[in-house]
Amino acid sequence: MRPLRFWVSVILVFCMALGYLFFSAPEPLAAVDAADNSFSTEEAMALLAYENDVTRTLYTKAIVGAGKAQGWMFSEDWADPDVVAGPLPALFLRGIAEELNSGEVPLGLYLGSDFPIESSNQFQGRQAEIFTEMRERLEPAYFFDQVTHETIGMFPDFASAPACVTCHNEHERTSKTDWELGDLMGATTWSFPGDSVTTDEVVSMLQAYRQGVANVWSRYLLEIEDMDASMRPEIGSSWPSQGAYIPSGRAFQDSVAELASPHLLAAILEAHE
Ligand code: HEC
Repeated sequence: MRPLRFWVSVILVFCMALGYLFFSAPEPLAAVDAADNSFSTEEAMALLAYENDVTRTLYTKAIVGAGKAQGWMFSEDWADPDVVAGPLPALFLRGIAEELNSGEVPLGLYLGSDFPIESSNQFQGRQAEIFTEMRERLEPAYFFDQVTHETIGMFPDFASAPACVTCHNEHERTSKTDWELGDLMGATTWSFPGDSVTTDEVVSMLQAYRQGVANVWSRYLLEIEDMDASMRPEIGSSWPSQGAYIPSGRAFQDSVAELASPHLLAAILEAHE
């Protein structure tokens, strides 16, 4: 027989454990998350699409546009070790998508079309169907993929500059030669698990995107360092429109933040009203 003292201690410990569970244990994580899910995944994607738009437009106009005027090269083969060039805008985006792919936040990004230059950018399955509808409505479209349990958000990509049209129409691998200014040329597709997210998750999605931009930018600056000394721009806080200058990663990202943050902050505050 065990002594009475033993059983008293067992019962005491049991009661303490019960008390802990009922009164002081943290709420199960799922309950906390559910209460805190202030965004639908669709809203979060609209914010990412906004950030992506600002980034891509700034890159296209202030770097590719102004840089070309100075005689710098931008190429689809920019990652080739023998080619010294910056990425074309679509390749800049692809670089960010690859960075996201290898990161920890389960956020997917893809730029596709029904008539792509690059055959791996051809929309397939449900995304192809949604894109056909987008040709009529010309608006963002969302759906929930029941197989992967991901929200998919597709955002229209228009031929906003003559260069989009000429380069695509004349490209040796193009599958369509009569693009016109203003046409819907493709869509940016985002994917993320689940249908709602916490504010923390929205912030980590945006941070993952910005980290992707930072990494692609570092790779671009390595190309700059390989440029011929006679035209190599100085890396710092100035821009190609001012001469032989290229913004550092910090300077480029500060500009994106300045352009995108008011809208992002307003949307985040609104979701908490
Ligand atoms: C100097 C040439 C050039 C310019 C300018 C250009 N693109 Fe592209 N674009 C490409 C190439 C090359 C690809 C394929 C990249 C790859 O390998 O994924 C591409 C890919 C795309 C894709 C993915 C589908 C596809 O065709 O493979 C879309 C959508 C797209 N571009 C839209 C645009 C838009 C919109 C603009 C203008 C804002 C633009 N492009 C400007 C060369 C260009």
